Amino acid sequence: MTPILELDHISKQFPGVKALNDVHFEMTTGEIHALLGENGAGKSTLIKIISGVYAPDAGTMRLDGKDVHFNDPREAQARGIATIYQELSLYPELTVAENIFMGHAPRRKWGPFSAIDWNAMYEGARELLASLNIHDLDVKRKVITLTVGNRQRVEIAKALSLNARVLIMDEPTAALTETDVQRLFEIVRLLKERNVGIIYISHRLQEVFELADRVTVLRDGQYVDTRQVADTTEDDLVRMVVGRTISDLFPKLPSEVKGNVLEVRNLTRKPLTKNVSMNVRSGEIVGLAGLVGSGRSELAQVVFGFTPAESGEILIEGKSVQIRNPGQAMKMGIAYVPEDRGTQGLVRQMKVRENVSLAVLHSLTKGAFVDRPAERSLAERTIKQLNIRAYSREQVVNKLSGGNQQKVVVGKWLASKPRLLIMDEPTRGVDVGAKAEIHRLISELAQQGLAILMISSELPEVMGMSDRILVMREGRLVAEYQRDEASQEAIVAAMMSDTDMNKTKAVESYAV
Ligand SMILES: Nc1ncnc2c1ncn2[C@@H]1O[C@H](COP(=O)(O)OP(=O)(O)OP(=O)(O)O)[C@@H](O)[C@H]1O
Ligand SMILES: [Mg+2]
Repeated sequence: MTPILELDHISKQFPGVKALNDVHFEMTTGEIHALLGENGAGKSTLIKIISGVYAPDAGTMRLDGKDVHFNDPREAQARGIATIYQELSLYPELTVAENIFMGHAPRRKWGPFSAIDWNAMYEGARELLASLNIHDLDVKRKVITLTVGNRQRVEIAKALSLNARVLIMDEPTAALTETDVQRLFEIVRLLKERNVGIIYISHRLQEVFELADRVTVLRDGQYVDTRQVADTTEDDLVRMVVGRTISDLFPKLPSEVKGNVLEVRNLTRKPLTKNVSMNVRSGEIVGLAGLVGSGRSELAQVVFGFTPAESGEILIEGKSVQIRNPGQAMKMGIAYVPEDRGTQGLVRQMKVRENVSLAVLHSLTKGAFVDRPAERSLAERTIKQLNIRAYSREQVVNKLSGGNQQKVVVGKWLASKPRLLIMDEPTRGVDVGAKAEIHRLISELAQQGLAILMISSELPEVMGMSDRILVMREGRLVAEYQRDEASQEAIVAAMMSDTDMNKTKAVESYAV
């Protein structure tokens, strides 16, 4: 079969880094082709070349066997290449329909004038969503009110409104929970049946096995290989991605659990924190599971003082405290690695060094001066420890790959040596090697007596890392499991609503 898309000898240089070096990639119609590689391997750069964001320094690209050069993303779109980037790009204050038809809304003539034909636009948006089997999304709703999963469906609909033949998805599942992932996969398979070729980037290997036909691996900007997924094992892929074998992906170390560091009693902040009582002890890793929107991040933000509690009590090491803002929380030894690195975690225009030291600036400051040598060595240490791929500690964070930005956020808070560390999706978008490294660090910190509250949508991560697992649903704590009594089935059942649970039971009894 002739490939629809073929790239040969592609190279791309950025200041200080060869992002791509002589890379090959090909894809046929109706193929789901996974693109794998460590953080900074060059995946996003490659798809930005395909979608016309960057021009390659060298190499050729062929579409339907003919050479193409795109001067900008619109030219690529016009040729049927649709892209969903790593950072979602919808306008939150606009409606679903407005986002989908941004820039090409249907118009109606009024004599010499023309105006947007709103009814046609709403109808078009509904049809487009329906063609993806999405019937439960109100096209007049503002995007800001949607869950991440729904935002993503809107992104896909928007991309497809341009009649795509090639759909590129850069880590589409990084922010999704299990149920949303399954719905996304249904859409992807539907598109495959319609002969759309799909380039799929993810750090979750099991997704590659579930979804993809072929997989291409990049390492350090170099092409490693392209394989049939059916002919590879997970071990093969890990070896291709990191260039070595990783024996233990979740190296949880035994740790001595002592007294309470954090205890909250009847904590309430409407609408998503309802009468929550829980504790995290010194040396303990508590995993917080739940669907997106169940109130996990909101609970973390109440404890950290972003959105202070309306009622209830917070105790730190047994003493009742008031936490009205993040500054107070930090003074009490609480650190918070937020979910959304873009808006809460990083100052993207600042350098890696400056970001890493941000949370500990007070301890690096002598009088009015920052202790620069100490700041520099802290940055060097963090870069080494987390294997952050930056050409120097002086690089602006904006220019790092997505996963490496995440590592900077984690590094920044680890540097603050807190008593209580709250981490919200700490390994989102991070590659397998770095993930194991972050897990090892979390585990070591617990061993040193830190109390850790870890929010994660990846159940293997929650189950692998936690001493104890709490489950939230609709703003309440609904279940608690000790490490040795937790099972995936039990956690999923607790995560879903009562009605869903009844449905599951009904299905089970039907099956019996
Ligand atoms: N605009 C840019 N300017 C300078 N360097 C860049 C730019 N974009 C990417 N890079 C660098 O190019 C390399 C490849 O980055 P890229 O974003 O393609 O990685 P990736 O494989 O997508 O990683 P991740 O899994 O973390 O998203 C990295 O070293 C990155 O820092
Ligand atoms: Mg990327």
